[in-house]
Amino acid sequence: MTSTLVTRIGELTTNDPTLGDGTALGRLGSAAFVVEDGRVAWVGSASAAPECDTRLDVAGAAVVPGFVDSHTHLVFAGERSDEFEARMAGRPYDGGGIARTVAATRAASADELRSGVAARVGALRAGGVTTIEVKSGYELTTEGEARDLELARTATEQVTWLGAHTVPPEYAHDRAGYLALLTGPMLERCAPLARWADVFCDRGAFDLDEARAVLEAARSRGLGLRLHANQLAHGGAVRLAVELGAASADHLTHLDEGDLEALAGSSTVATLTPGAEFCTRSAYAPARRLLDAGATVALSTDCNPGTSYVTSMAFVIALAVREMGLTCDEALWSATRGGARALRLDDVGHLGVGARADFLVLDAPRAAHLAYRPGADLVTTHLASVPSRPLRHPPSRRSAER
Ligand code: NIG
Ligand code: FE
Repeated sequence: MTSTLVTRIGELTTNDPTLGDGTALGRLGSAAFVVEDGRVAWVGSASAAPECDTRLDVAGAAVVPGFVDSHTHLVFAGERSDEFEARMAGRPYDGGGIARTVAATRAASADELRSGVAARVGALRAGGVTTIEVKSGYELTTEGEARDLELARTATEQVTWLGAHTVPPEYAHDRAGYLALLTGPMLERCAPLARWADVFCDRGAFDLDEARAVLEAARSRGLGLRLHANQLAHGGAVRLAVELGAASADHLTHLDEGDLEALAGSSTVATLTPGAEFCTRSAYAPARRLLDAGATVALSTDCNPGTSYVTSMAFVIALAVREMGLTCDEALWSATRGGARALRLDDVGHLGVGARADFLVLDAPRAAHLAYRPGADLVTTHLASVPSRPLRHPPSRRSAER
């Protein structure tokens, strides 16, 4: 078995509170770690590092865990920049554009969809995403949703069935018929292809009773639960997510004190999507209040063609810091370990011993540069499965540039 020493790390964020400074960020200076068999095998001071077969000298750079993007809608065709332009000119978002992407996605060939997914996954990976969740939700037929889940499975194991994204046009006058399809044949076909089920439970989408019916049916088929909640209006979706033990309630733009308390007292992660709020010019979710109440917060791109065509987690971190009042460290934790919690994964989002060795070498001495230099390209992504082949520039070139 080959071992690799990653060394001369100026600032190492492990997200393991038993390491380093004892904070949630588990931070060490002048650090090193050993990768063996794709896992972190040792972490400590560079001066105390064991001998290894190969070495990656990062020359004083900051190293952080790979980002865990726990909410994306990557399987789609077409684009909706005209809606973005209209919103920037003052028109509000109401969810109505989903039907346009449904029409474009239904009309696309599997090859077109596959290359779109590959391009978006490539962009996210180059920006530091090493674990990704991908939802269906833009075909809304039994075979179409199954096709999109199969495509999502080419990118990740964290696949979510979102047949309840909106009521498709052919069921516009028969909501009950679409609910019966969702909870019957479509779920039957899609459950074996997914790990999670999600519902867009909001004004103009699915109501609480409908969401409960879909989620309970999905749970009885063995799927874990997630929920698009309180994006457009305040309602009972957050409390439904908590009541059903969902892994995550997402968006959360409109929350009252009861929602904050419910999330704080639960294992449901509050997954925030500041890219969507930026791109729809909406109010940002009350991230500071969620953290102060004691909720676990994750940050995600929500990458989709309608509300958040965002493929940069660094941009999401910068928004969370500048617009939502998170500290740089809270935003980094939420984009890594918080995302892992939202997917109920223990071996990603941190660099403690035993973790998958997915890590980012930053072209910067401190992780705070992710928010401090918005728009800068700072990340070289290393995946455990290919430890010797970084996805971006080799470190020697980046060190020379620094
Ligand atoms: O997460 N809110 C629901 N779904 C997506 C948007 C979908 C679309 O407009 O195409 C979201 O924002
Ligand atoms: Fe979404």
